[in-house]
Amino acid sequence: MKNIPDLVLIHGFPLDQEMWAEQVRFFRAAGMGVLTPDLPGFGSRPGNPAHRCSIGAFAEDIHHFIARHANSPCMIGGFSMGGYVLLALLNRFPKDACAAIFIDTHPAADTLEARQGRLKSIADLQAEGIGALRQMPDRLLSPSAPLQLRSRVAEMIARQNPAGMIQAQMAAAMRIDQSPHLPEIKIPTLVIGGAEDVITPPNLMQRWCSQMPDSRWVEIPGAGHLTPMEAPEAVNAAISHFVKQLPQIALRPEN
Ligand code: MLT
Repeated sequence: MKNIPDLVLIHGFPLDQEMWAEQVRFFRAAGMGVLTPDLPGFGSRPGNPAHRCSIGAFAEDIHHFIARHANSPCMIGGFSMGGYVLLALLNRFPKDACAAIFIDTHPAADTLEARQGRLKSIADLQAEGIGALRQMPDRLLSPSAPLQLRSRVAEMIARQNPAGMIQAQMAAAMRIDQSPHLPEIKIPTLVIGGAEDVITPPNLMQRWCSQMPDSRWVEIPGAGHLTPMEAPEAVNAAISHFVKQLPQIALRPEN
């Protein structure tokens, strides 16, 4: 696949860009430019200053990353919290994207219960450090995910900085509802969700997917929330199919 827009992939919580390893390998082998930034406070990046603790500030960070490193407009994908960032980016910097891929995510703000859960998680992170997130692999993966994958995810979580995770939990807790903006997203969009996702279940995802005018939905059988790692072949196939059908690519004779 030649001359196609760069693919920028935004990771979720409490992970880093390494979660996209299988997508980077696959799409680079297909000749695409693939960029996987770490958000502030994740991977080896320091967090934002306290007054810039918001999903909007993460979106600005991705906007500046795209300006420095990618050929805009790009195809932009966001997994879970990365999807919150992608929605904020589309709202504020719509020219950055020519297509969007939402993976196991949703546009609504936190419910009161979810916010209370985040406050508890922040208190646990303050008290115990990153070990407070030791149950996360069980929420991110389906019960049938292999042990080796479970360990890889646990290792990725264990290397995150607790201060960055606290900041991200606060940013997610304060995010605003992006649902009213869904009909304004006129670019082609792909929404992917794991059939066994307990965090953003498929019926919820299908509902909001249909509110975007040019959207398509793909359900990944047998996978939990973290589909890019649990079912990389199916996720890569869905993205490939979507990319090949984008009007700007379909019109290019060399493809
Ligand atoms: C994620 O996977 O990014 C998180 O589950 C999202 C969240 O905490 O809302």
